[in-house]
Amino acid sequence: MSHRFSVISVAPPDSILGITEAFNADPNPAKMNLSVGVYKDQSGQTPVLKSVKAAEKKILENEVTKGYLSIDGLPAYRDDVRNLVFGDSIAADRVAVLQTPGGTGALRVAADFMRTQLPGVRVWIPNPTWANHPAIFSAAELPVETYRYLGDDRTSLDLDGMLGALREKARPGDAILLHGCCHNPTGIDPTPEDWKQIAAVVAEKNLLPLIDFAYQGFGDGIEQDALGLRTILDHVDEALVCTSFSKNFGLYSERVGAVSLVASSADECSAALSQLKCVVRTNYSNPPRHGGAIVATILADAELTELWKQELEEMRLRITNLREQFVRQMESTGKGYDFSFLLRQKGMFSYSGLSAMQVDELKSKHGIYIVGSGRINVAGMSETKMDAFCEAVASVMS
Ligand code: LMR
Repeated sequence: MSHRFSVISVAPPDSILGITEAFNADPNPAKMNLSVGVYKDQSGQTPVLKSVKAAEKKILENEVTKGYLSIDGLPAYRDDVRNLVFGDSIAADRVAVLQTPGGTGALRVAADFMRTQLPGVRVWIPNPTWANHPAIFSAAELPVETYRYLGDDRTSLDLDGMLGALREKARPGDAILLHGCCHNPTGIDPTPEDWKQIAAVVAEKNLLPLIDFAYQGFGDGIEQDALGLRTILDHVDEALVCTSFSKNFGLYSERVGAVSLVASSADECSAALSQLKCVVRTNYSNPPRHGGAIVATILADAELTELWKQELEEMRLRITNLREQFVRQMESTGKGYDFSFLLRQKGMFSYSGLSAMQVDELKSKHGIYIVGSGRINVAGMSETKMDAFCEAVASVMS
């Protein structure tokens, strides 16, 4: 009997999550995983936030059903997403929000919606970007184009290069993927002034902004991090926004996200929502309840909201401290290792400038795992392992 699966070839490991698989298999007791974007506290744990624990307790006490949610998810959660992302900058009837399984789920729903409802659309993604972006759009059979993002120094945004490429090559109706804040993998964000220029080109070329907003609260603060997105929406009246609460609520494994569609009128918004619901129904039917219920429970309670904001602020500040500590310690070797550009980067990641060979050597000689592009998850560093980490980085650079 012939085996049909015998012809299937082995896919390469995922360029981010595959590293954790290799890390888990490594017997080295001194190993460090600074690859996947997950926050770890001083003890190396990815903690459950106190606000989340308290909300879960309330949910457990009060939950009366495990019945299906509607296709677009919990109403209170959807209102929360709308408030966090848009504030009161857009009339509620122009925004459709659907709860999704994580930010990745949101991106895939957005991608399938664009392919089915916006014929001919191409998606412009920055170079570099999160490795899963091109994979998601290709899986949805959308044509992908790249625009320049990083300058030749690899430490700054090449705004002129980016806008020049879009002006020259993007077609009206194309979508442009923008990272709302804490650009992944570089941590290099546009300034408020840059956002105005980006928004002007998006409007001039009639592009559809598709904003990946996975790190709200990790850059400069919850409200501050929404500035870029809101600047874009001052210039255009249509957009798609993909939110994730994996990082800012620490709800990674609960898969809590949302896709929000902004339309120019309430009627257009309702029609688009009906199509988004078809995408969801034929994919995962309706979202899981628990993660969304946690977010909604926290944000419905003033004390829990305050606690969550404090916990998020603590994570943000600790990442900033770790970044500073790394830069200072590398400088103090006296060997001319200048990583001060890291201090201008925002969010969980640092784009270190380490080459693929140096990344390999970190792994093979020191058991330190980072992403092939040289991206380091600063949020995974620890004060106690900083010496060992800096020594390893110095050794692969010498
Ligand atoms: C990352 O970039 O490490 C995170 O967004 C996690 C992931 O799914 O890749």
